[in-house]
Amino acid sequence: MMRSGDTGRKDGWKRILAAEKLTKYYFLGAEKISVLKDISLTIYAGEFIVISGSSGSGKTTLLSVLSGLDRPSSGRISLAGRDITDLTEDQLAPVRNNLTGFVFQAFHLIPSLNSLENVMFPAELKKDPQARDKAMVLLDRVGLGQRSRNFPEQLSGGEQQRVAICRALVNDPAIVFADEPTGNLDSENSESIIRLLLDLHADRNMTLVMATHNRSLAGRADRIIHLHDGRAEERSPVRL
Ligand SMILES: Nc1ncnc2c1ncn2[C@@H]1O[C@H](COP(=O)(O)OP(=O)(O)OP(=O)(O)O)[C@@H](O)[C@H]1O
Ligand SMILES: [Mg+2]
Repeated sequence: MMRSGDTGRKDGWKRILAAEKLTKYYFLGAEKISVLKDISLTIYAGEFIVISGSSGSGKTTLLSVLSGLDRPSSGRISLAGRDITDLTEDQLAPVRNNLTGFVFQAFHLIPSLNSLENVMFPAELKKDPQARDKAMVLLDRVGLGQRSRNFPEQLSGGEQQRVAICRALVNDPAIVFADEPTGNLDSENSESIIRLLLDLHADRNMTLVMATHNRSLAGRADRIIHLHDGRAEERSPVRL
């Protein structure tokens, strides 16, 4: 299903994310490295988008910029109809906590909190009275119901990653950004994480933007945004 452009799209597809002429460059000494060059894209609520591209093509950079974790060098981004480009960090924090979830390669669990407390944390920031119940349901779904009292150092790498994924989902985000979410997991655990993300995508109309090299997963996407030489091109998924 193609839904490009702002006009002529089907009614009922709300724009959740729009990026306009994004660039991102770094300086290494005097050398300017352009990672993203003039990228414009629109993502509609409820879509499953895969970001593809070879290692170093800018997938992590693009996810970081789109999600408001990092800032573009130029260009504009709006999230759920709000231009977030010029928001201060203090203004951005509640937008991120209420609307978005991040599943990144580095999981950054809080070492002094156990699994359950780590997952509850974003919901407690919002004073959600159901924080504990929601966290427990998610931990159960990823097979960690028996590990809720373990601290991060008492968990394997894959278990820590699953806790981080639960934490990203506890506030029922409208849009989730996932960077190789199954990178450190064996095939059984990868499958349970993917199933969780795709179930939430289907059941709650959660928008999912995922960088992955996994071709069978890419085949399940609504659209693929392929990065090459700093530019984005849209590809149709090849169903395997
Ligand atoms: N802070 C930085 N300073 C300089 N260059 C950077 C910085 N961060 C990323 N880069 C460069 O930007 C390019 C894109 O990096 P990025 O991590 O986005 O790639 P990627 O597509 O996610 O790769 P992978 O598939 O290996 O995860 C790389 O060439 C990287 O070396
Ligand atoms: Mg990456």
